[in-house]
Amino acid sequence: MNDAARAFDAFREPILAAVTETLASGAWLNGSRTRKFADAFAQFVGTKYCVPLANGTDALELAMRALMMARGTKGSEIITVTNAGGYAVSAARQLGLVPVFVDVERESQLLEARGVVAALGPKTAMVVVTHLYGGAVDVPQLRGLIDAAGYRDLPIIEDCAQAHGATVGSARVGSLGTIATFSFYPTKNLGAAGDAGVIVTSDSKLYELVERLRQYGWSSRYQVSVPNGRNSRMDEIQAAVLLTLLPQLETMNDKRRRIFDAYRTAAGDRISFLAFKSNSVVHLAVALCRERERLRGFLDDRAIATDVHYPVLDCDQMGWRGSPHRIGPRGIEISRASVAEIVTLPCFPWLTDVEVGRVVDALAEWRRTN
Ligand SMILES: Cc1ncc(COP(=O)(O)O)c(C=O)c1O
Repeated sequence: MNDAARAFDAFREPILAAVTETLASGAWLNGSRTRKFADAFAQFVGTKYCVPLANGTDALELAMRALMMARGTKGSEIITVTNAGGYAVSAARQLGLVPVFVDVERESQLLEARGVVAALGPKTAMVVVTHLYGGAVDVPQLRGLIDAAGYRDLPIIEDCAQAHGATVGSARVGSLGTIATFSFYPTKNLGAAGDAGVIVTSDSKLYELVERLRQYGWSSRYQVSVPNGRNSRMDEIQAAVLLTLLPQLETMNDKRRRIFDAYRTAAGDRISFLAFKSNSVVHLAVALCRERERLRGFLDDRAIATDVHYPVLDCDQMGWRGSPHRIGPRGIEISRASVAEIVTLPCFPWLTDVEVGRVVDALAEWRRTN
């Protein structure tokens, strides 16, 4: 499904040079590369601030905590989807926030705005929007609906871990909500050589809070100025790798998009590859197929890997059975139906033309014979 060694092969010399320089500098944490990457990434996304962190789940947790601290602890619920791999829910549970699950649109598998509006209530603390599989949720439209329902102050967190570079109109995801999070897990559209993540925002109060929370609550060395701080630093080697790869992001996104388009064309209407409205990117090549298990067997017989992102809805996870959640008033019918149909095909920039051709041929054969 992915191969990080091929990413290294593609950029071997610049990555080795950046890593070697970093090691030789002796500044392995909180150094100039981390600051430079944060500045470059804020500029790329279009926000005033970017805080480098250890990973994308910490980013979600710290974004939620900063929002609760900045706005007083009003509300105990977060509204989110149930099909996005559990990352936002896992962060929310650290803070004792109760997830309220809303449905998705079938063709895109992205959050459905009307479900959010129907779920709003006096306990709502925030909404988490996940730009899943590369698809961009129309956050400005959602903001308008939430405002019209009388919740002007309600914060929206964008989880952009699967959508580096996607836009809605001319604005990039990450700049559309109150605060946003990214993961740079190695297989992401912009991936590090290990764990890394960031928070981006244009709100100076949230920025300052996250800056403190990520290092023990310090305002300066050994001076704790806010409670609930912890350690979540991006290390300097990851920042050096990300600085090397950021200028390549658009090209890498184009490669994923071309692979996805080739699959969609070959499959015709026999398998529904997801369709996104806005100017999205492609992270995973996800399709809906009513005969998913048969399709997976057919592809497996042709030595083509498939996967399912994600096989269990957050509301059905065993480990969270004892933890509270609610289903929003409009239900989660589409999420429930889709979980048995979603299938992911290989899609990453380093697939060779021959490999893509094999998948395309197999999809065309399935179309002809099924
Ligand atoms: C949508 C989404 N959010 C959050 C995360 C968590 O990021 P990390 O693995 O860096 O903690 C991931 C993936 O890993 C993700 O896909």
